[in-house]
Amino acid sequence: WPRTASRAGGELRIGGVGVGDLVARFGTPVYVLDEDDFRSRCAEWTAAFPDGDVHYGGKAFLAPALVGWLRELGLSLDVCSGGEMAVARLGGMPPERVVFHGNNKSVAELRDAVEWGIGCVVVDSFTELDRLSDLARAAGVRQRVMIRVKPGVDADTHAALATGGENTKFGLSIASGEAIEAVGRVLAAPSLELVGLHSHIGSQIFDLGSFATAAERMVAFLKEVEAAHGVAVGRLDLGGGLGVRYLPGEQAAPRPAELADVLRAVVPADVRPAVEPGRSIAAPTTVAIYEVGTVKGRYLSVDGGMSDNPRPATYGAAYTASLVSRTGDAAPRSFTIVGKHCESGDILVHDVELPGDIQAGDLVAIPCSGAYQRSAAGNYNQVPRPPVVAVRDGEARVVVRRETQEDLLRLFV
Ligand code: LLP
Repeated sequence: WPRTASRAGGELRIGGVGVGDLVARFGTPVYVLDEDDFRSRCAEWTAAFPDGDVHYGGKAFLAPALVGWLRELGLSLDVCSGGEMAVARLGGMPPERVVFHGNNKSVAELRDAVEWGIGCVVVDSFTELDRLSDLARAAGVRQRVMIRVKPGVDADTHAALATGGENTKFGLSIASGEAIEAVGRVLAAPSLELVGLHSHIGSQIFDLGSFATAAERMVAFLKEVEAAHGVAVGRLDLGGGLGVRYLPGEQAAPRPAELADVLRAVVPADVRPAVEPGRSIAAPTTVAIYEVGTVKGRYLSVDGGMSDNPRPATYGAAYTASLVSRTGDAAPRSFTIVGKHCESGDILVHDVELPGDIQAGDLVAIPCSGAYQRSAAGNYNQVPRPPVVAVRDGEARVVVRRETQEDLLRLFV
């Protein structure tokens, strides 16, 4: 649950605002984001990795309001599409604090990035390297770049979330010689400036040893680069991926300071480590609130589902849920929380104990809903996407408004 969450008389309060109030004002489903919690998680990361070396992974969840908080708190921002870059701009992030990722950035996206003056492009292929070099030359600038390297680490996570192995689509391989060739080509391109090397081993990782192994491989590669080209690369960006606890019984997530200690033990003192946490900042700050529509046997149906949270269906992700609009005194029984979509796989929570008298009109909350949910939401079955409301000190403010039927109908020509 978010840092400022409390229960008074059965009702959940976050940021000093009761869930009943929030739902009366904004409807359901609604994502409620604890701004203090978000800020304090950012601060914990910047305490562990100072000087702009924390690049928030905007893919977890991004909105212009958040960009403002990140800017204020001294974080940088990792974007991976022209769309995320546009949100960064709208939110007022200085371009030099933005890092641009992606395995297939378009020419138009790269041109926009160069013209905006983006701080760094993480080059992911030889094709991109040539494109970027041409675009930067045409624009008359020297574009700062990092090279995304495959460290050859298979992290212990869901297969779809592992990105550090040899067979991933991301990055250039050390083992095959691609990575060192890419370094040579960047160094030979007058319109490019090599500022660092990047790796990202995956997401929802608890084992700090995987980060240490990746860092060791990257440090060894830095030495290879120095021997081959006589240049000292001063920056190692080791990506995001620190896990979070979704269920009460799960192991606690490692702290940013623990990751920093592990990395500093491997990375030489004259090299600056950078990180890109997304989930570990955003996920715990937000709860998803749904209204119960029907109760039928063990199935409790709510007014959202796989369109606003694709994670259970996509990754088999497990969540918990609670009744949050009243105290439930009835004996608990086990429910399966399902959405309103037209398929049996539309399950949000398997086997959760809730008061046996739970009924239509009750509100249930799913905690740890701040990452890869609203940002990955879709419109399956023409269901509009829910809003995100930030709460703090008794005030609620919409950071993403609710999508309407009209918004969706406007797409048809
Ligand atoms: N940096 C890069 C290059 C990334 O690809 C990612 C995440 C991050 C940083 C942030 O990783 P985080 O700290 O959030 O783990 N949709 C999936 C997660 C996909 C992660 C994509 N890349 C899910 O819902 O679990």
